[in-house]
Amino acid sequence: MLIGASSWVQSADEENLEYSSYGAQQCLWCHSGAEQAHLMDLFEGPHAVRADERSPFGEGQLQCEACHGPGGDHVGPIVAGRERPPMPAYGPNAFWTVDQQNDMCTTCHLDQGHSFWDGSEHQRFEVGCADCHNSHEQRDPMSLATSQNAVCMDCHISQRSQAQHAYAHPVRHGEMACADCHAPHGSPNEAMLTDLNVNQNCYTCHADKRGPHLWEHAPVAEDCTNCHQPHGSNHPGMLTRRAPLLCQSCHGRESHVGIGITADGLPDNNPSNLLLMDSCMNCHTQVHGSNHPSGRALAR
Ligand code: HEC
Ligand code: HEC
Ligand code: HEC
Ligand code: HEC
Ligand code: HEC
Ligand code: HEC
Ligand code: HEC
Ligand code: HEC
Ligand code: HEC
Ligand code: HEC
Repeated sequence: MLIGASSWVQSADEENLEYSSYGAQQCLWCHSGAEQAHLMDLFEGPHAVRADERSPFGEGQLQCEACHGPGGDHVGPIVAGRERPPMPAYGPNAFWTVDQQNDMCTTCHLDQGHSFWDGSEHQRFEVGCADCHNSHEQRDPMSLATSQNAVCMDCHISQRSQAQHAYAHPVRHGEMACADCHAPHGSPNEAMLTDLNVNQNCYTCHADKRGPHLWEHAPVAEDCTNCHQPHGSNHPGMLTRRAPLLCQSCHGRESHVGIGITADGLPDNNPSNLLLMDSCMNCHTQVHGSNHPSGRALAR
């Protein structure tokens, strides 16, 4: 059923927005041209399932306007010399705040909207649901690691450059996603991590590093980022700095031999041969902790 132009309704009061009378059909009349063909991918996704009454296209729902807000003014015939009133939620002239836009999504997506979203860094800095999600694509960009990482890195440029470093988690090639470690809708944990703290997060994949060890190395149990940069670095093993400097940032001369560094903390021009190859790790092979009865010095 197509609706004739004569039946368009225009809301008289612009302050008091009204929904269009005929919904999507009316929208598509003007928005189904070739240059807007990409919009039709909506109908391949979960938002246009007529049989699902929770969907914007389910029985009794507001269709396009469930997300875009009331378009009663926008669909109407326009007075000569005046511009077409914009849709309230999306588009360059849209006039709703990000919070108002997000409200459209969270009326249906209560979980994403309420548990940790309010007060999260993304909510506080006015990142919109639609900055990450795109309802007009066949596959939401967040549902694939490659497209997800690309969207996140559009805003997070320092993480993008770290992911390009020589030693990094395989994020660059989409074998891992930012959301493997982060909860984009917010979490009660630092840096919106999915787990209670950094170490719990790392243990989910690197279980072998979880203690307790007979001989623990204090900084490991405390925080993996004491030595590792989770987004990538130019030092082997994603270390924050190269050994021996890494080790010497905490261990001074008093640890048996003042190797590689002078009493003033400057590089030693005549370093001990203890620093050949992997330096400290030549002997202290068990930097993450040892379970050997005589592994006190993390050497076995
Ligand atoms: C599930 C929510 C949702 C539904 C349903 C929806 N849209 Fe959208 N639409 C969006 C979002 C989100 C954007 C993107 C805003 C942005 O670019 O940040 C958008 C963008 C648009 C744009 C402008 C951007 C472009 O690419 O041209 C038009 C026009 C549009 N939608 C029309 C429609 C029409 C017509 C319908 C109904 C057939 C519809 N939308 C249904 C969420 C929705
Ligand atoms: C009579 C034709 C007509 C109808 C009906 C119509 N639109 Fe539009 N719409 C336009 C035109 C023309 C523009 C672009 C003009 C402008 O930029 O203000 C536009 C712009 C938009 C935009 C902003 C697009 C952008 O690229 O920024 C959105 C979103 C939108 N319409 C959604 C809808 C929705 C949803 C409906 C149904 C409720 C609808 N339109 C019905 C003609 C129409
Ligand atoms: C009228 C209710 C309604 C509105 C409004 C709505 N959604 Fe949905 N959305 C749904 C339903 C229903 C599903 C399918 C859920 C399922 O199958 O469990 C869905 C699925 C999704 C998914 C999963 C996508 C996928 O491919 O599986 C995302 C992401 C999403 N919506 C984001 C949004 C965003 C962003 C907005 C606002 C622009 C929005 N939704 C507005 C009802 C809605
Ligand atoms: C910073 C980017 C980002 C923002 C902002 C964002 N999301 Fe998501 N969303 C994601 C990612 C990533 C996933 C996939 C999560 C996963 O793989 O576990 C997702 C998944 C979803 C899903 C699918 C079901 C689920 O929870 O896995 C829905 C629905 C959804 N988001 C709705 C929303 C709504 C509503 C908002 C706004 C309040 C929003 N999102 C804001 C990134 C984002
Ligand atoms: C539209 C821009 C934008 C997009 C897209 C975006 N973010 Fe953010 N993100 C921000 C802003 C703004 C902040 C808060 C300020 C800051 O920390 O830079 C933030 C903060 C964060 C934080 C720090 C939280 C904290 O408590 O310190 C994490 C982690 C994060 N984002 C992860 C992600 C992930 C993962 C994605 C993709 C799923 C993503 N972001 C997509 C803009 C964005
Ligand atoms: C292997 C797990 C992991 C992955 C994958 C990961 N992160 Fe992180 N991210 C962390 C940890 C752990 C922290 C907190 C420690 C820190 O600040 O280095 C963090 C912190 C952040 C912060 C806050 C930084 C700050 O200085 O406050 C942002 C923003 C962020 N990550 C964005 C991203 C983005 C974007 C991606 C995807 C490109 C991503 N992360 C992938 C583990 C990860
Ligand atoms: C979602 C799973 C996952 C999580 C969570 C995770 N990693 Fe990884 N990690 C990997 C994978 C996959 C590799 C690559 C293994 C390979 O290339 O063989 C890797 C490799 C590494 C490497 C070796 C890099 C190299 O160049 O040899 C280090 C170091 C590392 N991770 C540290 C961490 C730290 C620290 C954390 C917590 C902030 C963490 N990982 C969290 C999956 C994970
Ligand atoms: C005191 C510094 C330090 C801390 C803290 C630390 N690491 Fe490491 N890690 C290293 C060094 C040094 C290497 C390189 C070892 C080598 O070259 O033999 C390494 C290598 C790795 C590797 C790759 C090689 C392997 O052994 O699998 C992974 C994975 C790893 N660390 C995970 C972790 C996790 C997870 C944590 C937190 C529980 C952590 N590290 C805490 C120093 C540290
Ligand atoms: C962030 C600081 C920090 C870094 C970096 C660090 N350590 Fe440690 N290390 C400690 C602390 C704290 C202890 C516990 C000292 C104590 O119990 O007296 C320790 C203990 C040790 C011990 C055992 C000493 C003993 O008596 O049990 C060895 C061996 C050791 N570290 C070697 C290394 C090596 C090798 C590196 C470089 C890969 C390194 N450490 C990097 C802080 C650090
Ligand atoms: C040639 C092997 C070797 C190399 C290389 C080496 N160590 Fe050791 N280190 C040892 C042995 C063996 C002990 C145990 C001494 C003992 O039990 O009294 C030890 C003990 C330590 C201790 C514990 C000292 C204490 O008070 O009990 C620390 C800390 C330490 N080393 C740090 C380092 C650092 C940092 C480097 C690199 C700059 C390094 N080691 C390089 C063999 C080595």
